[in-house]
Amino acid sequence: QQQQVPDGEQGKRAAMESPFKADVLNGKVALITGGGSGIGFEISTQFGRHGAAVAIMGRRRQVVDAAVAALRSEGIRAIGVEGDVRKQEDAARVVEETFKHFGKLDILVNGAAGNFLASPEDLSPNGFRTVMDIDSVGTFTMCHEALKYLKKGGPGKGPSAGGIILNISATLHYTASWYQIHVSAAKAAVDSITRSLALEWGTDYSIRVNGIAPGPIGDTPGMRKLAPEEMQNNYSELGPLYKLGQRWDIAMAALYLASDAGKYVNGTTMVVDGGLWLSRPRY
Ligand code: HXC
Repeated sequence: QQQQVPDGEQGKRAAMESPFKADVLNGKVALITGGGSGIGFEISTQFGRHGAAVAIMGRRRQVVDAAVAALRSEGIRAIGVEGDVRKQEDAARVVEETFKHFGKLDILVNGAAGNFLASPEDLSPNGFRTVMDIDSVGTFTMCHEALKYLKKGGPGKGPSAGGIILNISATLHYTASWYQIHVSAAKAAVDSITRSLALEWGTDYSIRVNGIAPGPIGDTPGMRKLAPEEMQNNYSELGPLYKLGQRWDIAMAALYLASDAGKYVNGTTMVVDGGLWLSRPRY
């Protein structure tokens, strides 16, 4: 059984209690795309620890199975469903299976993402499209297919009557980021989707739609792929809070937005990066 949390982290995390009550998501059912690893797995775990039943969607069977086993070993009600957010039929099947298994769907987290470093010159249009397909079109497709289960509210029913959507974004596109033209464009579209759905589905169905833009988070596939180790050790040079973020930081933001604590928050993308994106070199 492959553990998702390395030994050192496990100890640190045990000491890092959640500031939320353990029942803030009691009775809720959450579907988390990309929930088998990295930030998505931490959100799955924390949602489960705070009372939610969790469905994990991912492309790789082994990863999904290992994640579900880890959640169940903590007593969390969890299922894993294989699927690719780029395929509408997969999206429809996964939300359907989640609904059939748990009887409802309250929270959709769009965490699935594709990424690699490439200069615009070396990136093929198909490479650009692939990331747009996963991040932007995939997010819209999941929202589209989940809507019928999420819309239990209605006009005038109040901010907590409908379901919740959380879109995991980034800060790359607030400025410009080297070798990330595809991901920057894709995440800009995700933020736009967040605002449009917050307006339209918030009005029509009391569904709250928000995003989270993580900064550099340690121990994630994204960081392993995108940042060399020496850079990861040098964040004290770059960021106001002088450290890498932890997956826990993102999961706590997700808990805030998904629980009633965030009941008046709609259409925002919360930056959780220690202030890194707004910083410039000192000299
Ligand atoms: C240039 C590349 C490339 C690379 C793929 N392509 N990798 N181009 N450099 N390293 C191009 C291919 O040449 C091809 O174009 C097109 O992309 C599709 O490639 P496939 O391999 O067929 O795609 P697929 O198998 O579907 O894989 C998708 C993937 C993959 C995005 C390429 O790496 C992936 O899914 N990774 C997801 C896991 C991951 O990294 N998750 C963490 C996300 S972190 P041509 O023209 O040749 O056909 C994150 C954080 C963002 O999102 C913010 C950070 C701060």
